[in-house]
Amino acid sequence: MERLTSPPRLMIVSDLDHTMVDHHDPENLSLLRFNSLWEHAYRHDSLLVFSTGRSPTLYKELRKEKPLLTPDITIMSVGTEITYGNSMVPDHGWVETLNNKWDLGIVREETSKFSELTRQAETEQRPHKVSFYVDKSKAQEVTKELSQRLEKRGLDVKIIYSGGMDLDILPQGAGKGQALAFLLKKLKAEGKLPVNTLACGDSGNDAELFSIPDVYGVMVSNAQEELLKWHAENAKDNPKVIHAKERCAGGIIQAIGEFKLGPNLSPRDVSDFLECKADNVNPGHEVVKFFLFYERWRRGEVENCEAYTASLKASCHPNGVFVHPSGAEKSLRETIDELRKYHGDKQGKKFRVWADQVLATETTPGTWIVKLDKWEQSEDERRGCTTTVKFTSKEGEGLVWEHVQQTWSKDSTVKDDSSWII
Ligand code: GLC
Ligand code: MG
Repeated sequence: MERLTSPPRLMIVSDLDHTMVDHHDPENLSLLRFNSLWEHAYRHDSLLVFSTGRSPTLYKELRKEKPLLTPDITIMSVGTEITYGNSMVPDHGWVETLNNKWDLGIVREETSKFSELTRQAETEQRPHKVSFYVDKSKAQEVTKELSQRLEKRGLDVKIIYSGGMDLDILPQGAGKGQALAFLLKKLKAEGKLPVNTLACGDSGNDAELFSIPDVYGVMVSNAQEELLKWHAENAKDNPKVIHAKERCAGGIIQAIGEFKLGPNLSPRDVSDFLECKADNVNPGHEVVKFFLFYERWRRGEVENCEAYTASLKASCHPNGVFVHPSGAEKSLRETIDELRKYHGDKQGKKFRVWADQVLATETTPGTWIVKLDKWEQSEDERRGCTTTVKFTSKEGEGLVWEHVQQTWSKDSTVKDDSSWII
């Protein structure tokens, strides 16, 4: 959050499973559309928050499976754990507030008396979250009985049913909604209250997100019955909450448009993006567009035409250098020439490229440094590298690529650089 010097333009607080991530889409198209929109138009002045029911262990697993961006803030275990930044620094202050009228031992003891409850995996049992599976037909009855018993034992808990199968028991002060309220209060105290906040979800544990004042909300089209029921009973007349027509991340993009929260055209939805020159010089856009072009070039989705590579070459400085992750240096223009050979080599294959954490800084007037993590997924291999691009721009002319340097990112699954182009 330190990188923001003024209030964020937009804060997106999104659930992951079946909201940001569509588990029915092996191509991850809506997620990739969201990613390029975020990096293109929001990363530099907005905040991305993931709010998931998953524990840190399962959250990290999902990150390996799906092309998720790096959020600024991660809320895990149904609003019981909040962490900041890439290194996920925990908010100890938040944890302390959760000890009020909470006793893990008593929760375990009382829940063990219910034969309808099946304990979830050990990774999902957290200091302030105890989780079970329970059949839909039994959920209401068990919830009622259990809350009475825990109340009698002096606890103040919240029982949440999600996805038609998961039952979570949390301290009353916890939950995704309370965590969001805590965050908003904290941001406000720092003078960084977001101009707009959009909450996104699909299931029972997301309901609370939609009752936080002044927050826009989107229930994605594929929202669960329990969330739609909650909405019909509690928030039907709130014009700030919509049920999207589109699934998952597509619904989030739709909501950005409907609430007029900012640009909602993903670069992935533009087919002729090389032609579309932005009005004002923005080097971050340039990089997002380039890597998208690179993906389409190798998938054979753009025409193999000289004009494309010629225009790319023209935007590279004649003495521009590309430093390959192996350390080898090549001229930028030669690298573009080399790229020509790879047109369509990934046709019909699982191949995607996305940019994460694109941040541009103007170092001196007319000189920009863009830093980003560039990811490439090819079949089941994923490789990432930290990329630094230096651009210059002259009055009235476009941006010129001066220097590109790449180093392997520590999370890459393979480090064989023989088939790495750019
Ligand atoms: C995630 C968690 C699980 C929890 C569910 C609903 O799937 O892994 O423990 O019950 O979200 O909140
Ligand atoms: Mg979900």
